[in-house]
Amino acid sequence: MRLFGFKRTFLAAALALGLAFAIAAPQAAMAQQTPADEAALLQQLKGGPVTGRVSIPDAKSGVLIQPQGRDWRQVSQGTVKSVGGWLLAITVIALAAFMAIRGRIKVEHGMSGRTIERFKGIERFAHWLTAICFVILGLSGLNVSFGRSLLLPIMSPEAFTAMSAFGKLAHNFLSFPFVLGVFLMAVLWIRHNIFNAIDMEWFRQGGGLLQKGVHPPAGKFNGGQKIIFWLVVLGALALAVSGYILMFPFYGTDIAGMQLAQLVHAIAGIVMVAVILAHIYIGSIGMEGAFDAMGSGQVDVNWAREHHSLWVKDVTARGAGDD
Ligand code: HEM
Repeated sequence: MRLFGFKRTFLAAALALGLAFAIAAPQAAMAQQTPADEAALLQQLKGGPVTGRVSIPDAKSGVLIQPQGRDWRQVSQGTVKSVGGWLLAITVIALAAFMAIRGRIKVEHGMSGRTIERFKGIERFAHWLTAICFVILGLSGLNVSFGRSLLLPIMSPEAFTAMSAFGKLAHNFLSFPFVLGVFLMAVLWIRHNIFNAIDMEWFRQGGGLLQKGVHPPAGKFNGGQKIIFWLVVLGALALAVSGYILMFPFYGTDIAGMQLAQLVHAIAGIVMVAVILAHIYIGSIGMEGAFDAMGSGQVDVNWAREHHSLWVKDVTARGAGDD
């Protein structure tokens, strides 16, 4: 297959990124092995915490050693980082392979030159508010998990510290507009995202993604988009609840609750980044004509007929421009 310049650049960048996460993953696992003397101490403690007495109102500061903390650290810094690193590496490599094999999904009948309104201003506002916040939240979150293994070796400690401190601030503050954006998308689109029999047929035909010339019928959103919608809504809920527990530590929760919140936040964050990488690919370079839907809000009629035939029929029946 002939590789044109842009595709080659994308494939090279994807492979480099995949490789970087694959390198970071085992490093994270190795860094977190419990030394033998610590393991012996844990055995003596028989799983219980070592506590003392404190005369200040904050009773939890009397806990000197909490053995569960070591288990949590091992899972959080070892398993989650290494499995998460591999998940991201595999996602990027799978997308690059999909692009190399399937190529860009074209509008089979060519652009008609006539357009139809796909998303109104408020829908695009909700989407881009969410997307911009998510990209910064995702990058600053990944820096917390992988920055020390991936970036610190290639930048000065001062620059890494400044970048991480700024990233942490951005991560805290952008959580609020992100939640607002997801809430708006949920309210605007929930009624179009209830699964039905048409989606089952869409899944049966692989969404037409795997073969040229296959266009299973779909309404405003197809089965794959409905999965993305629910993963975004439920993933954002998990991220928000766990994130605000972490942002306001020990309000209504104990140390075990904090540790659980950290694990939920890290797992939901990494899974969402993997899902959204695939979404960004198909919504931009992966499919001809798709970006316009969220760019100008107008899509070519032939694109709409091929990918959302039932929605086109519905809109035309009710008058153009309806949602
Ligand atoms: C940053 C790059 C992104 C691009 C280029 C992009 C592109 C698009 C496009 C073109 C659509 C419309 C698809 C259609 O007309 O059928 C769309 C829909 C959507 N986007 Fe994005 N998006 C991006 C980021 C995000 C992020 C970060 C999220 C959530 C965290 C998100 C969530 C959604 C959802 C839920 C939909 C509706 C369902 C779907 O089409 O999958 N997008 N996006």
